[in-house]
Amino acid sequence: MLRALLPSATLGAAHIPGELSPDCGKPQQLNRVVGGEDSVDAQWPWIVSILKNGSHHCAGSLLTNRWVVTAAHCFKSSVDKPSLFSVLLGAWQLENPGLRSQRVGIAWVLPHPKYSWKEGTRADIALVRLEHSIQFSERILPICLPDSSVRLPPNTDCWIAGWGSIRDGVPLPRPQTLQKLKVPIIDSEVCKRLYWRGAGQEAITEDMLCAGYLEGERDACLGDSGGPLMCQMGDSWLLTGIISWGEGCAERNRPGVYTSLLAHRPWVQRIVQGVQLRGRLADRGDTRSS
Ligand code: ARG
Repeated sequence: MLRALLPSATLGAAHIPGELSPDCGKPQQLNRVVGGEDSVDAQWPWIVSILKNGSHHCAGSLLTNRWVVTAAHCFKSSVDKPSLFSVLLGAWQLENPGLRSQRVGIAWVLPHPKYSWKEGTRADIALVRLEHSIQFSERILPICLPDSSVRLPPNTDCWIAGWGSIRDGVPLPRPQTLQKLKVPIIDSEVCKRLYWRGAGQEAITEDMLCAGYLEGERDACLGDSGGPLMCQMGDSWLLTGIISWGEGCAERNRPGVYTSLLAHRPWVQRIVQGVQLRGRLADRGDTRSS
C-alpha cells in the first residue's frame, strides 16, 4: 500500500478472559488515535495475513472465531489445496508476529459461486473456514458486517490496511509493519466512466465499490488483496469492502476497486453462523441480526 508509514506504540494488556464472542468492530487498544495517520499495534485486530507456502500472499478479515473473509482470486488454481495455506492472526509486523499471534491452518475455502476466476470480475469474495476455532484477545477480534441500513455516499472516509507492495514491484520493507490508508468512497457512476470498456462489458459491476484518489499516489497494491475496506459507523468498524483489483497501483484515474459487502452480506450470513451486523441506526445492543 502506498504512502503510510507508522511508528510503533505500546499496547495495553486488555485481555478478554474467556470471552467467546467479543463485540465486533471495536479495537481494544488503549492509546486511541483521533484523526491522525499513525496506526498503533492492534488498531485493526481483525486483519489477518493469508500465507501460501509460508509466505504472505493475501490479507483477510476475521468474522468469527472460525471464519475469515477474503478475495476469491487469492485462491486461483488452488481452491482445492487448502493445505498450501495458513492464516496468521494478531500480527502487526509480519517479520515479528509476536508471541500473541496465532497461526492456523485452513480447513476449506468457499469461493462465491458466481466468481469466474478472471481478474477484475464480479463476486471476488471467498469464505475461509479455519481448521480450529481461534482464541480472541485484545489483538484478535472480529469485524462487523454492514446491516441493510448502511449507505456509503461518495466521499465517505473509509480505511484500508495491508502488507502489500509500497509501489508497483516494490514489496513492503522489513519489518513489514501493517500499513493503513484513508480512502474516500468514489461515486459509482464516476468510477464506471473511468473504467469504461464499452457498452455491454461493464468493468464496474453492481457488487463493486471504488475508493481512493483520482489523482493517484495513494492506493492498495499487490499483496493487499483480500484485505478490508473499513468504515466506522458510530463506535463500530464495519467491513464494507474487500480489496479486489485496480489497473496498476495508484495510477491517475485508476482507483482501487473493492468487492462490496453491502452486496454480498446475505451470502456471507447464510454461511457464517454468528457473524455480527451493525448499521447506522444502532451503535450497540441487539442489532446482531437484521
Ligand atoms: N489484486 C492485487 C492483489 O492480488 C491487489 C489489488 C488492488 N489493486 C489496486 N490497485 N487497488 O494483491
